[in-house]
Amino acid sequence: MAENGSDENFEHKLVPHRGFNLISGIHAPEEVDRILNWEVQDSDIFGVTFPKSGTVWLQQILILIEAKGDPAKTNGQLSCERVPWIELIGGKEKFVAESSPRLQVTHLWPKFLPIGLRQGTGKVIYVARNPKDVLVSYYHFHKYAKMLETPKDFNDFYEKFMDGRVYGSCWFEHVTTWYSLRNEMNFLYITYEDMIKDLQSVVEKICEFLGRSLSESELENVVKHSTFKNMVHNQQANYSLIPSSLLDQEQGRFLRKGTVGDWKNYFTVAQSENFDRVFQEKVKDVPLSFVWDISDLVNT
Ligand code: A3P
Repeated sequence: MAENGSDENFEHKLVPHRGFNLISGIHAPEEVDRILNWEVQDSDIFGVTFPKSGTVWLQQILILIEAKGDPAKTNGQLSCERVPWIELIGGKEKFVAESSPRLQVTHLWPKFLPIGLRQGTGKVIYVARNPKDVLVSYYHFHKYAKMLETPKDFNDFYEKFMDGRVYGSCWFEHVTTWYSLRNEMNFLYITYEDMIKDLQSVVEKICEFLGRSLSESELENVVKHSTFKNMVHNQQANYSLIPSSLLDQEQGRFLRKGTVGDWKNYFTVAQSENFDRVFQEKVKDVPLSFVWDISDLVNT
C-alpha cells in the first residue's frame, strides 16, 4: 500500500474512448460500443447521472418504488446488483438476465446508449446536482476508490474536474448534452437539491413518470427508507459491502455528508469565481439553474 492509501497494484488509468473517459479494468471499450444495439423494452428504466450526483440514491428509490415501499421485498440484494451499471464489464449479461422492469444506471453520454431510447422505447431519469458539490463529493471519492487516482490535494482534483480528466469526463458537457435531448426520449429531469428539499414530491414525480400508483403509506415508506439517515445504516444501499479491492472503506464512505453547499468548505474564492465563469459560459445555451446553498432551498 502506498503512503497516500492507494493500492500500488491497481492500475488506475483513465482510458479515453470516443471522447469519453472510461476506467481500465472495470470498463471495456468494445463492450461499451455494443450497448448502442441492446434491445430495449418499454418497461426498461435507465437512471443517468454524472458521478456523485445521487446515483445510489436513485437506485434505492427505484428499488423501493418497485417493492411498493417494502424493503423486505427487495430480496436482500445489493442496490448495485438490483440496479446495475450498464457500462461495467459484463453489463450486457446482467441486462439480458434481469426480469422486467429492468432497472439500470449509467454515467455514459447519450451517444453510447441503446438506439431504442431515442425511438421512444424505455425511460430515462436524469439526476443532476450542483456541480460544485459534485466536485467535492468526487474529490473524496477519489481518495478511497482504488480504481481512481488519489488526488495530490484539492486543487489538483479541481483542475482535473474542470478539464474533464475524470471518469464521466466533462460535467458541463454531460448535463447539457443529456438535457438537450429531453424531448427526444421519455425523459424525466430531477435534481439532487429538489430531493433534499422535498423527497416525497420527487418520489411522486418519479412514480407518475413510471406509471406506478402507490398508496399513501407505500409512498411514505419509499421516502422513509431512502432518507440519508436510513440509507447510511442499510448495507444493501450504502455500498459498504463493495470489495475493499475497489473501495477502501477505511478511507471514506459512499454516503458521506448528503447535503447542499459543502463546496463552501473547500473552494477558495478564486476557484469559486473561476467555476462561476466557466459555468456561465458552458451552460448558457440550456435553461438550467442550480441551488448552491442549503439556505437557498428554504427560499425557493
Ligand atoms: P456526498 O459525498 O456529498 O455526501 P453517487 O451515488 O452518484 O456516487 O453520489 C453520491 C453522493 O450522493 C454522496 O454525496 C452521497 O452522500 C449522496 N447521497 C446518497 N444517498 C443520499 C441520500 N439519501 N440523501 C442525501 N444524499 C445522498
